[in-house]
Amino acid sequence: MSIEKAQFVSWFRSASPYIHVHRGKTFVIQVNDKVIHSDEFTGLVHDLALLTNLGIKLALVFGTRDSIESYLDEKQANSEYHNDIRITDADTMEFAKEVAGRLLMDIQAGLSMGLGNTPMSNAEIRVNTGNYVSAKPMGIIDGVNYEFTGKTRHIDVDAMLDKLANGEIIVLPPVGYSITGEAYNLPAVAMAADVAIALQADKLIYFMEKDQQAVFMGEKQANQLNQAEAQGLLTRVDGRSDSYFCLKNAIEACDNGVERVHMLNQEQDGAILNELFSRDGSGLMITTSAYDVVRKATSDDIGGILDLIKPLEQQGILVKRSREKLELEANCFTILIRDGVIIGCVGLYPHPDDKVAEVACLAVHPDYHNDGCGNQLLDEIENEARRLDINQLFVLTTQTEHWFLERGFNEASPGNLPIEKQALYNYHRNAKVLIKKFEV
Ligand SMILES: CC(C)(COP(=O)(O)OP(=O)(O)OC[C@H]1O[C@@H](n2cnc3c(N)ncnc32)[C@H](O)[C@@H]1OP(=O)(O)O)[C@@H](O)C(=O)NCCC(=O)NCCS
Repeated sequence: MSIEKAQFVSWFRSASPYIHVHRGKTFVIQVNDKVIHSDEFTGLVHDLALLTNLGIKLALVFGTRDSIESYLDEKQANSEYHNDIRITDADTMEFAKEVAGRLLMDIQAGLSMGLGNTPMSNAEIRVNTGNYVSAKPMGIIDGVNYEFTGKTRHIDVDAMLDKLANGEIIVLPPVGYSITGEAYNLPAVAMAADVAIALQADKLIYFMEKDQQAVFMGEKQANQLNQAEAQGLLTRVDGRSDSYFCLKNAIEACDNGVERVHMLNQEQDGAILNELFSRDGSGLMITTSAYDVVRKATSDDIGGILDLIKPLEQQGILVKRSREKLELEANCFTILIRDGVIIGCVGLYPHPDDKVAEVACLAVHPDYHNDGCGNQLLDEIENEARRLDINQLFVLTTQTEHWFLERGFNEASPGNLPIEKQALYNYHRNAKVLIKKFEV
């Protein structure tokens, strides 16, 4: 997606709660050659430039399948497949090397292009590539000899991490070299999973054909699956399809320590930015982390909320609330539940006549700090407030001023509060008043 300079400020404002979550993280991204030859490629280059400049470490694995297919078509030849993996003969391997080299240059050219009229206009992206992946032959499976189709043998993780730490984007062709000096054609989807596992990447991101990705999106309303749900989905997907192969590798990556795998539609402009920097995302995410539920509280949840906020009340961080008061106000609360335990809460108290609402009692259990839970809760009540036709939030805080300022709140004074709230303002506590106006 080309975010032009003029749009950048508003994009940055909406994305800012997510930026700190991703900064310093390592993502492995897999694209196929169709994307590289499409109109969407320029937009993707802009997105990758933006991600790098936000401090995200990127390794890009590209595929060569379409180019090889066209080459074979021209020659009126066919590749044989077994288990959805091409059997690469010597002639096709020669072409695979040629096309990998060409695509590598196309990608490097793309990543070197000036990004005029975008916020990245003077940003230089350093691209790195190398023999990080060694391979071995896939061998003979079910009596079928895969010839020059290989699989990953070893990944030079230290060397890759070194380059990534240096801010370089690593671009990897789907070719691995054996210690006997031969090159092997690697299935890019599997190779990307291997690289993500070896690097213990925070995310593996697959860009998929629209139709293949749609297979997943129709399956479930939510855009998030845990590993067990993903395994269930695998049994319902056609075992000969690209979707199956991709999902199988995604699960494999999750099973081996990659926390999140995203499957995005490669034809959707800005898919990666939408997925990473918005609450609802744009694709399907498979996650190893426990499944979170965010919902409105009921009176049954008051015990869990009290457990969470009591220590903070005792430290004077939160104002004391009695059980009775909480029970009366339960419907003002939104809670975040992980594995059945309430690990976060926040209250929204509307003053409908003034079209403003108070954010209160925001708390996340200390075991889960710095994982975006606070953001998630704030997002949730901001959406709720908008639905209630509220156009301004306020919060009174003694120790969390900067957290709110970084999320679009601005300093105000007690005089800016609704009249009934002004009367209750405790000058002894001297809490800061912060206000966030919604853009109309
Ligand atoms: C404030 C709070 C809800 C944030 O929850 P969280 O899930 O850790 O928040 P997120 O993961 O979304 O954000 C983490 C970021 O906020 C920063 N942060 C946490 N507390 C902060 C504070 N008091 N002031 C400024 N920044 C703070 C963290 O350092 C981290 O920033 P980093 O990524 O740059 O290191 C949590 O720290 C908490 O429960 N605090 C005690 C209760 C409280 O103060 N509530 C506010 C009452 S008005």
